[in-house]
Amino acid sequence: MKKISLLIIALVMSLPLSIFANEGMWFLMHIERLNYRDMQKMGLQLTPEEIYSINNQSLKDAIVQFNGGCTASIISDTGLVLTNHHCGYNVIAELSTAEQNHLKNGFWAGSLAEELKPQRLSVRFFVRMDDVSERILSKLNDTMSEKEREATINKEIAKIEQENNEGGKYTVSVRSFYQGNEFYYFVYQDYNDVRLVGTPPESIGKYGGDTDNWEWPRHTGDFSLFRVYADADGNPSAYSEDNVPLKSDYHLPVNIKGVKENDFAMILGYPGRTNRWMPAEGIEQNVNYAYPAWVEASKLSMDVMKKYMNEDEAVNLMYASLYAGIANYWKNRQGMIDALTQHKTAETKRKLEKRFDKWANKSANKSMYGDVMSNINNYYSLTNEKSKHDNYLIAILRSSKFSVLPYQLGRGFKNYAEANDAKRKELLPRLQAMIAGSYTDYHLPLEKDVLAEQLKLYTSKSNYPLPEGIAEVAEKGDFDKYVNAIFELSMFASKESAEAFLELPNLQLLENDPLYKLSSELLAKYREQPEEFAQPSNDFQKSFRLLVDGFRKSGLSKIQYPDANSTLRLTYGKVRALPKDPRNDAKINNYTTFKGKIKKYIPGDKEFDVPKDMLDMGTKDFGRYANSDGELSLNFLTDNDITGGNSGSPVLNGNGELIGLAFDGNIEAMAGDVIFDKKLQRTINVDIRYVLWLIDKYAGATHIVDELSVIE
Ligand code: ARG
Repeated sequence: MKKISLLIIALVMSLPLSIFANEGMWFLMHIERLNYRDMQKMGLQLTPEEIYSINNQSLKDAIVQFNGGCTASIISDTGLVLTNHHCGYNVIAELSTAEQNHLKNGFWAGSLAEELKPQRLSVRFFVRMDDVSERILSKLNDTMSEKEREATINKEIAKIEQENNEGGKYTVSVRSFYQGNEFYYFVYQDYNDVRLVGTPPESIGKYGGDTDNWEWPRHTGDFSLFRVYADADGNPSAYSEDNVPLKSDYHLPVNIKGVKENDFAMILGYPGRTNRWMPAEGIEQNVNYAYPAWVEASKLSMDVMKKYMNEDEAVNLMYASLYAGIANYWKNRQGMIDALTQHKTAETKRKLEKRFDKWANKSANKSMYGDVMSNINNYYSLTNEKSKHDNYLIAILRSSKFSVLPYQLGRGFKNYAEANDAKRKELLPRLQAMIAGSYTDYHLPLEKDVLAEQLKLYTSKSNYPLPEGIAEVAEKGDFDKYVNAIFELSMFASKESAEAFLELPNLQLLENDPLYKLSSELLAKYREQPEEFAQPSNDFQKSFRLLVDGFRKSGLSKIQYPDANSTLRLTYGKVRALPKDPRNDAKINNYTTFKGKIKKYIPGDKEFDVPKDMLDMGTKDFGRYANSDGELSLNFLTDNDITGGNSGSPVLNGNGELIGLAFDGNIEAMAGDVIFDKKLQRTINVDIRYVLWLIDKYAGATHIVDELSVIE
């Protein structure tokens, strides 16, 4: 017995770490030093220089940040961009009407001339990055308050940006990492003329809807296609008929040979936010105060919005994207509450913090780190109720257009009213454009309803001082009447009355406007920094920085990569199954099939309907896109470390060829943003063969497939 178990232990210990590993969102400039050998062992064929090079073309040239919040890749030499359907969603909805409903029916441009330009859509190329920690840290000292520190850092950042933007050609962004212990700058180039090329209908791109969202097994064709346009020299240019497709430096080849368990898989993209260093009490605050408020308020908005969206397709299109965003994080936050509770994440962290505190109170460390834990814990216990309040408040701002717009416009109106004639002339066109851009795509009954319901929830649920005016209404207790009344009286309730103000500007009128007052109160509350929290907050910031610093110096934490903050990262891992699941008919629970999708089909259902033309195609001939069983694989699992913002990221094989498109995570691993779970965490990807089959066979857009470099 004993011998056997010793043998097993020896075996387990000799296995490469990487059968578990795959945690980590790595900087491209560190791959060579930190990851390359491990990646090679796992199946990487490229050199570090082929992934990230400053002087030569490399993989990174084909990875873009998409519209500020997602990731995409360049897949042809004429600027074709591949991202998720849910990343293109707001643009697809914007370009749709009840008559020409691309969201519902899909859209495929037959030629460049048919590609559709939305109002605003940009992609951001990554040029290079570098470490400026020493430069910035050398300007700082331990006696500075956090405010002084920030001011000094910002001064240095401004210089670094100036030095690297090449006269405005590039956007330079300096960001802090490891909770303010390190700094790197990033150089980007932005393109603002990006057009829709193709999208499957929503019933394919969002198959399974919110029921399947954050879940595996999954059968979603979550992709859409765009194109970057540039001037004749390939430089960024505002929209013009003369713009031409961007001649891409580098584009990803597409590999349709298929994937199997343990195949190497890496993902490059822009993960938004992780909190792997979050202290135990911070987790408790989120689980018990912040997230429950978020979840409750989100659900309320969703219920109100859905009523109106179901009644009218035009209203549905106006709110589809906002609704999807709220629903996405509603489910995510509940998933986080459940996972963090079930895995007792706070307890795990608390144990680690006990060990930290011991280290921190050794005589050599005490003066620097001795107060760290108590400062952190004190701050959280002081701010629990505030965090709950803030989450209810943010829900108002997020879901009610008229909680924000009057203040935004009103600030401009104030300047205008106070200006002399010459200045007014200058301001007028800008304000007119702002009004024109603001009063589109909303439904007043829905807006009033959402605002009233959210104000009721906010005032009844938060145990924290409310803005005065709102507290007064709450006392009288009728937000329905109140909201109706202020919409009757306010100049911000309609485009016409807002425009009328510009004809006859009157400061007093503005300052007495009830929607302006409400909106100003809400935003002031949102920005408020109460005096009583000033010192604890200062101490917290400093202590959190020292906590991370101490964790690294003491070796108590092994994390060698910085938290996600929407900067470009690489994560590598493998195709990796989850335990067998009766809901998945595939042979191994690491992929799903077209057959499986048809099994889930519910005729006429909002989430599980299948377009008739797709049903008519049958499930037999998938041609070169079939897997080895003659089936079509739709989605597959890898064990990469991703989070929101990675949506649309390319999944690449060891040769840097495109095998899929990351689009989701699994609900069981929703604690992942705080603690990476080696057993549970998976990335859910669309198989590139499904994408190509949809473009080629389902949509018949063979001219798009012809643009690609396909390896079969
Ligand atoms: N959970 C995905 C993400 O955050 C979004 C999926 C969108 N699909 C949906 N059914 N809401 O990246």
